[in-house]
Amino acid sequence: MQEKTPVKVIDGRQLSDLLIEEMTQEVNERTQKGLPQPGLAVVLVGEDPASTIYVRNKIRCAEKAGLFSLVIRLDASCTQQALDDVVVELNERDDIHGILVQLPLPKHLSEARIINLIDPTKDVDGFHPVNVGLLSSGQAKLVPCTPLGCMEILEREMGDVSGKHAVVIGRSNIVGKPMANLLLQANCTVSIVHSKTIDAAALCRQADILVAAVGVAELVDQNWVKPGAVVIDVGINATEIDGKRKLVGDVNFADVADKCRAITPVPGGVGPMTIACLIKNTLTAAKQHDM
Ligand code: GUN
Repeated sequence: MQEKTPVKVIDGRQLSDLLIEEMTQEVNERTQKGLPQPGLAVVLVGEDPASTIYVRNKIRCAEKAGLFSLVIRLDASCTQQALDDVVVELNERDDIHGILVQLPLPKHLSEARIINLIDPTKDVDGFHPVNVGLLSSGQAKLVPCTPLGCMEILEREMGDVSGKHAVVIGRSNIVGKPMANLLLQANCTVSIVHSKTIDAAALCRQADILVAAVGVAELVDQNWVKPGAVVIDVGINATEIDGKRKLVGDVNFADVADKCRAITPVPGGVGPMTIACLIKNTLTAAKQHDM
């Protein structure tokens, strides 16, 4: 009988710490050479509890890596003009190389307008249409942090992913679409499944690499997974189990873990890598600025 290889639970925190350590060294080397300290500005509108925690973690990490960082908080009732003014001012500042406006914004503010207003060379989220176009035409500069973090995990886990069939569940601008583009550039055969896909599970069962980024708690069970697949769970869904609040992914971890070769947990998988990639993008933006 063939021995079953035990599943590997990918430690995103450890991988993120490693990346941050490498970048801290690079930041130190820059400053020793007299190059400017990379600067990151995060804009937070309102007091959404999840966004407040995400922003706090991003700033904590930026500081750990030796970046100059700044949080600009605006009231939830602020006008579009007030938010526009903040972004325009940050675009002009020489000590700020990366700008991130935390999403979602309150309903009365336009996310599209703000994304378009950020200087593309400072767009560390990689959401500006210029950066979207550069990525999809194979000239990527600043790439959305979550898919970038997923690629770091896949490359460290699998080495060359060329020729693998990757299936991405979800087609958001933040994760699904850029993820598919990055996998394509890494020479994967890529499928995207979404809410209108007929028999999504059957398609997912063909995947060597399965990336779940759909925002539906524990949607993916073992019927969606090919034996030996690598499963990346991008979902962060707040649920209540036995009266206790708990974060779960888009993948039913307990059901799937036995079937795959490697899997990212929630929390502690993709989340910490997203933040490490924000630091990476800020460093990339600062380097672009040196030239
Ligand atoms: N809200 C949730 N994820 C993100 C992200 O990657 N960037 C921004 N700006 N806001 C978010």
